[in-house]
Amino acid sequence: MGKRILITGANGQLGRALNQILQEKKDNEYTIVNAGRGEPTSYCPLILDITNSVAVMNVVQDLKPDIIINCAAHTGVDLCETEQEKAHRMNAVGPKNLAIAANAMECKLVHVSTDYVFSGEEKAPYTEECETKPQSVYGRTKLEGEELVKENCVKYFIVRTAWLYGEGRNFVKTMLSLADSNPEIRVVCDQFGSPTSALELARAIVFLMETKEYGTYHATCEGVASWYEFATEIFHQAGKNVTVKPILTIDYPTPAVRPKNSVLENRKLKELGYSMKPWKEALQEYMSTPCK
Ligand SMILES: NC(=O)c1ccc[n+]([C@@H]2O[C@H](COP(=O)([O-])OP(=O)(O)OC[C@H]3O[C@@H](n4cnc5c(N)ncnc54)[C@H](OP(=O)(O)O)[C@@H]3O)[C@@H](O)[C@H]2O)c1
Repeated sequence: MGKRILITGANGQLGRALNQILQEKKDNEYTIVNAGRGEPTSYCPLILDITNSVAVMNVVQDLKPDIIINCAAHTGVDLCETEQEKAHRMNAVGPKNLAIAANAMECKLVHVSTDYVFSGEEKAPYTEECETKPQSVYGRTKLEGEELVKENCVKYFIVRTAWLYGEGRNFVKTMLSLADSNPEIRVVCDQFGSPTSALELARAIVFLMETKEYGTYHATCEGVASWYEFATEIFHQAGKNVTVKPILTIDYPTPAVRPKNSVLENRKLKELGYSMKPWKEALQEYMSTPCK
């Protein structure tokens, strides 16, 4: 019997990518238990709302996982501005519940966080040691989640990522579907980040969770792009003939403020000898998968 892994928020982009990567490992290395919201399915048989502390403790005590990977979050960045209480419960209280339960059972906890914990005002890429200064409700609640994990759990990995796309709703799919009905698409060119495939993030998480190098990590694909450059590359790889027009953030107002510079340096992962794929290569892998 392999190591038992509890994945919370398993129906999301990262949860699905983790399942793919873990299943590719050799037989019986891992037993995955997927937990999510909504109706139970054969893929995700366990219902677990991470904001319910009693349910979280009961599930963790029953399952006795070796590792918990928390992929659940309120990821609607703009919605969080008007759903502050809900964002707080999902992004801060939920991780705290998991941290307390993981600590009680002495299991490892991988908790996923975001580039939005930074202001984006710095010019250089953000390392794990840089000062946090979130600009949005999403960023603030995710940072609170990080702090509650650190306070309540010893064996934790906090993994900050950015510009994530996988099986689910994401920028790549939005661009491809816009291209079907619009000859010209306007995309912001003054916000910079590292587009990161959920599969590449899942691989980095699987690497980290096998170590005892607990702490906070950045995990994004290598290289930098603006949203405009990202969109242009998506259409290039998809062979779509669309005109992409660069616009400024000021011309595309959103309820939540986005960091101008979202570029994370994976310094600590590199110190462990691990590197992630360049973003264009990871995008190619994603685009060549038939079912997304
Ligand atoms: N997406 C990005 O661009 C991005 C960027 C940086 C960091 N991140 C972080 O990366 C992680 C994974 O993101 P993702 O894109 O995979 O997210 P996602 O696709 O939005 O999936 C999140 C999952 O969490 C579930 N969930 C929400 N509240 C829950 C609760 N109270 N209890 C249990 N499950 C709950 C959702 O369930 P429903 O399906 O029922 O809604 C959904 O399946 C998150 O921590 C996110 O903050 C994401």
